[in-house]
Amino acid sequence: MKGLILSGGKGTRLRPITHTSAKQLVPVANKPVLFYGLEAMAAAGIVEVGIIVAPETGGEIRETTGDGSRFGLRITYIEQARPLGLAHAVLTAEPFLGEEPFVMYLGDNLLQGGIVELVAAFREHRPEALILLTPVPDPENYGVAELKDGRVVRLAEKPARPATDLALVGVYMFTPAIHDAARAITPSARGELEITDAIQHLVDSDRRVEPHVVVGWWKDTGRLDDMLEANRLVLDRVDGRVQGELVDSSCHGRVVVEPGARLERCTVRGPAIIGAGARLVDCYVGPYTAIGEDCTIERAEVEHSILLAGSSVTGLEGRMESSLLGRNVRIGRGAGQPRAYRFMVGDNSEIGIL
Ligand code: DAU
Repeated sequence: MKGLILSGGKGTRLRPITHTSAKQLVPVANKPVLFYGLEAMAAAGIVEVGIIVAPETGGEIRETTGDGSRFGLRITYIEQARPLGLAHAVLTAEPFLGEEPFVMYLGDNLLQGGIVELVAAFREHRPEALILLTPVPDPENYGVAELKDGRVVRLAEKPARPATDLALVGVYMFTPAIHDAARAITPSARGELEITDAIQHLVDSDRRVEPHVVVGWWKDTGRLDDMLEANRLVLDRVDGRVQGELVDSSCHGRVVVEPGARLERCTVRGPAIIGAGARLVDCYVGPYTAIGEDCTIERAEVEHSILLAGSSVTGLEGRMESSLLGRNVRIGRGAGQPRAYRFMVGDNSEIGIL
């Protein structure tokens, strides 16, 4: 069985972070989202993994992820020239997948329970496709499934009026029958070859599509709120470990302080993670915060936030919360006159002030 991870696409909902970086590399608890999928594949005994990448972000994904050896995988990168849909991505990967069954994992998805049991169920029951479902409050934002007597009868991609609240989770298992199904469909209203339509095609051709309802949580990290929520869920399970240097500082609850980080006169209330080489002085870090490598926080309070590597936050009067800072972002109090807000902010940024 092979693995296919989809890490192409545009990431429009996470701009401006995704203007310069792939959304699958945004870290959750200081680890790129994509790595959770790779680890899930390795844990399920899959070795050959193809990663679909876009021309714009493929280089960065390759550089960060490597040949897969550190995960115990052999990774093949497959470039998809344009983001023409998930079923188009499958067709792009067809030469790599050949006649093997495969697990397809959306590179921006996080699935708490992993895929070990699902792969076992797929091997045992041998359906044409195995899909994962979970009830959500906003099914109109996902693929939606309708079941009858435990069988899939209809699937619809982001329907305006969803028939159920069962969303398609971004992890699928397929036999090679999916290739012909992907060839048989036409682009949707959003101009994409939808995997949802290809699976519907299997259902219409009386092929067996097995539904599984997910136990445990699942997150599509495509939007800021989901990203913060994923960070919260993952941090909720970290074990505390202090390997950096604490000077007149205290950590409460489960806090990870990576080697080379230094905290002076700080209070950290976990769950939280402070990356290697970070410098924190006279500050408070609250629950559900992930501070990336080499960040600086001075005379400030930060909570429920994600800071990517090299960012700094200094001299804030109010607490910063529910925020996502890209790499090398600087937020601080300006000394110059006149006293004014001074911004240099990229396209599609969002700033909330007190
Ligand atoms: O997250 C679950 C949802 O994922 C499902 O409920 C939907 O049925 C499914 O269509 C998909 O919807 P999204 O609109 O969230 O998909 P998105 O465009 O975010 O793409 C998902 C991943 O696949 C993401 O890592 C980017 C990658 N991708 C996307 C496209 C369109 C590709 O690699 N190539 C592509 O052409």
